[in-house]
Amino acid sequence: MKPVLEEATREVYKAVLPRTMVVADLGCSSGPNTLRFVSEVIGIIARSCKQLGVKQHEYPQLQFFRNDLPGNDFNNLFELVDQFKKSTTGNRQGEAQPPACYISGLPGSFYARLLPCQSVHLFHSLFCLQWRSQAPGGLKGSGKTHQDKGDIYITKTMSPSVVKLFQQQFQKDFSLFLKLRYEELVFGGQIILTFIGRKHEDVFNGEPNHLYGLLAQSLQSLVDEGLLKKEKLDSFYLPIYSPSVGEVVAIAEQSGLFNMNHVKLFETNWDPYDDSETDVVQDSVRSGVNVAKCIRAVMEPLIASHFGETILDTLFKEYAQRVAKHLEKEKTKHAVIVLSMKKEN
Ligand SMILES: C[S@@+](CC[C@H](N)C(=O)[O-])C[C@H]1O[C@@H](n2cnc3c(N)ncnc32)[C@H](O)[C@@H]1O
Repeated sequence: MKPVLEEATREVYKAVLPRTMVVADLGCSSGPNTLRFVSEVIGIIARSCKQLGVKQHEYPQLQFFRNDLPGNDFNNLFELVDQFKKSTTGNRQGEAQPPACYISGLPGSFYARLLPCQSVHLFHSLFCLQWRSQAPGGLKGSGKTHQDKGDIYITKTMSPSVVKLFQQQFQKDFSLFLKLRYEELVFGGQIILTFIGRKHEDVFNGEPNHLYGLLAQSLQSLVDEGLLKKEKLDSFYLPIYSPSVGEVVAIAEQSGLFNMNHVKLFETNWDPYDDSETDVVQDSVRSGVNVAKCIRAVMEPLIASHFGETILDTLFKEYAQRVAKHLEKEKTKHAVIVLSMKKEN
């Protein structure tokens, strides 16, 4: 996604030439990765200024808003910002100074307005937009029919009405997200979104269906062993939907708000430590553990708040084994959608 970010950032800078360039990263989290985006943008602006012959004292100031839900660990984020600022403003004898940058936290859901009208030049969001604002259609356990008990995400046997609720929740959330960002963007501003989607148009044939299907099976096995109450599983749906490129483009076009600059789907291995491009998993047991750790990092707060913390270790051990067995048969990959859009004058 780096070339997409580079192109969009350069284009916005050249088109608007702002004295202060406002950039918002939506769903930034608080771990060590979170400031990579900031340093990328600083680098891109510094290179653009150099190419355009902008003098050092005329470099734009950069104002970054780091957004996430209020429960995000903003204290940790601010400590990282402090370290980052010290490292970027350190002793640079003879070297060009990077553009001045100001970094703030912005708690709140990106399914609501976050910033004033026409105040933002660049929006970015990485691996967040697969999350819905709520479980599909606000579905709670009582909504599950006998047919759907045990499902937590879309399966081939799920009632068509529930599948439709998952799709409608995505359509509603994504349209709202686009409308809100349109209001906040300046003319000439751009938005770059990267999130987990699915490769095929068929809603039942998606990589996340396998990933969450295995999680549902692991939860079911805890129910069978008497470690988890059946009602708990019967009252849980993931607030997630992974769309196809076609679905994303259809909603963006329907909104009529943006010009689509770029849209692409690429694949990455489920195991984040597996960089190979083959269709064979070298060590399925180790990959199973890696995938389970990754999904645990993402899902733990949600699972713990619904099912309780005590099941976590047993659940993810079981999940690692099921993922390993799955990977032995088939090396499924994440389908990642990257798109950039522009608010035209
Ligand atoms: C998988 S993390 C990605 C973090 C970071 N962007 C990265 O790529 O390393 C997803 C993040 O999205 C945030 N998120 C989910 N729904 C959100 C919402 N409605 N508003 C703001 N942030 C949200 C989560 O809290 C989480 O930090």
